[in-house]
Amino acid sequence: MPIHDNVFARIESLLEGEDDWISAMSTVVCELHHSFEHFHWTGFYRTVKPNILKIGPYQGGHGCLVIPFDKGICGAAAKTGKTQDVPDVHARTEHIACSSSTLSEVVVPIKNSNGQVVAVLDIDSDLPAAFSAADISFTEHLCQYLGAKYF
Ligand code: SME
Repeated sequence: MPIHDNVFARIESLLEGEDDWISAMSTVVCELHHSFEHFHWTGFYRTVKPNILKIGPYQGGHGCLVIPFDKGICGAAAKTGKTQDVPDVHARTEHIACSSSTLSEVVVPIKNSNGQVVAVLDIDSDLPAAFSAADISFTEHLCQYLGAKYF
């Protein structure tokens, strides 16, 4: 089984019968962070009030605690509801550098049944253009699954 399918199957199995969103996010970041060597920071930001994201469960160094929708790549994903695939973070002026070693990142929104962004999954890498098309479609599939299961 290809690695992405394997990880997805493990997450489905780990979350079977789990209805607590915090427990789910914590389990998902742990599984992702330890399954992919190029994921150097893996975490969730949650929409806690209109246009404000706050950090959720993560693995890696400290992340910024609060990101408004009009700031950062995370904010762009939350505001537009679209995946942000950033092969070179220095090419995006709005990028917030929580770690100076980050070179590329992908941020995928998680939506509720009304299409509102309830959280984003942010994955940062110290490698340039680290994320493959398979990584992106896998994270999008995962975020759709989480949105449908928990919201
Ligand atoms: N790089 C993100 C900020 C979050 S951290 O890097 C953990 C952004 O530009 O939104």
